[in-house]
Amino acid sequence: MARLISGIAELVTNDPAVDGTALGIRRDAAVVIEHGLVAWVGSTRDAPPADTHVDAAGRAVVPGFVDSHTHLAFAGDRAAEYAARMAGSRYDGGGIAATVAATRAAPDDELRALLRQRRAELRAQGSTTVEIKSGYGLDVEQESRLLRLAREVTDETTFLGAHVVPPGIDRDDYLRSVTGDMLDACAPYARWIDVFCEPASPHAFDLDESRAVLVAGRATGLGLRVHGNQLAPGPGVQLAVEFDAASVDHCTYLSAADVDALVAGGTVATLLPGVEFSTRSPYPDARRLLDAGVTVALATDCNPGTSYTSSMPFVIALAVRELHMTPAEALWAATAGGAQALRRTEVGRVTAGAPADLAMLDAPSYLHLAYRPGMSLAHALDTAD
Ligand code: NIG
Ligand code: FE
Repeated sequence: MARLISGIAELVTNDPAVDGTALGIRRDAAVVIEHGLVAWVGSTRDAPPADTHVDAAGRAVVPGFVDSHTHLAFAGDRAAEYAARMAGSRYDGGGIAATVAATRAAPDDELRALLRQRRAELRAQGSTTVEIKSGYGLDVEQESRLLRLAREVTDETTFLGAHVVPPGIDRDDYLRSVTGDMLDACAPYARWIDVFCEPASPHAFDLDESRAVLVAGRATGLGLRVHGNQLAPGPGVQLAVEFDAASVDHCTYLSAADVDALVAGGTVATLLPGVEFSTRSPYPDARRLLDAGVTVALATDCNPGTSYTSSMPFVIALAVRELHMTPAEALWAATAGGAQALRRTEVGRVTAGAPADLAMLDAPSYLHLAYRPGMSLAHALDTAD
């Protein structure tokens, strides 16, 4: 069944062939969707007939957001930790243990319901592709359970056993498990492996430990991702580039050598400004990365500790206001950038043959995503036949 959406005041395609810009904007545009794919893109006056018709009535349509970094598989919350932080305490990853305890105690059905509800919350705000990490189970049975349940709502699942060393467990024993029996149990449910490489945190992993995690993950056939340089300068970024990880995420404290490595390598720098907002930390220097030619993605990092938001529009508004990205750079980073961070070339754009992952805005232009912060302007379109 073919469905026509016409009367789109501004269609962002991320196809530079359209207008010579990265966003590839068409005015007064129309899209035909068939079998869940974009079948045709053009102007409203040239639109072919279709079985059903939606009038966008002067709204903008953008590629659905690609949220390439979330930790949606958790129970409980840490509102008190947030309040303490706003009163002056610093984030160091120690609170993760509280979420691990709450998550371990939650039965499958509760976690399944939480995952579905959060996945729906993301869609309702325009996100059509979502990555979900484990990392709040931290033993063989619990980590594989989280990934099995996350797999029910996305194909983009990431094994993050190397989130922190659980309290009371010997570091070396834990690392042996993460790179051994835990990895074996989790790999069938995961596309990626990630490590919190942060020598500045007593809970996270140093360079050699992180390297061991990436080596083991790669040998098991998983794609690689790294949490790096979040809390202090450190080795995460250069390690990620050395391993050709798809993405290194946070990138808050970067040296000149880190930026050079990102320019030379194929690793996307994913910025997560919801974290700096919610931990009251200095924002990453997006301009330095963009001006050097690094590919930048934006994601929510939705998690109960550092960034309890599932709103990509909020992240875009932060990126424009606080990271000095242009609205066009921010939208590209939240769509095509996220797709590159997941090495998914077919999503994050609106071109014939691509999945019909579209977000409709209750606004005439994508500029409103940053211009009207805190408003629910974006909604993923239901494009199933
Ligand atoms: O991406 N940095 C490590 N992990 C998460 C926070 C997890 C938590 O505090 O619960 C992050 O910020
Ligand atoms: Fe994270």
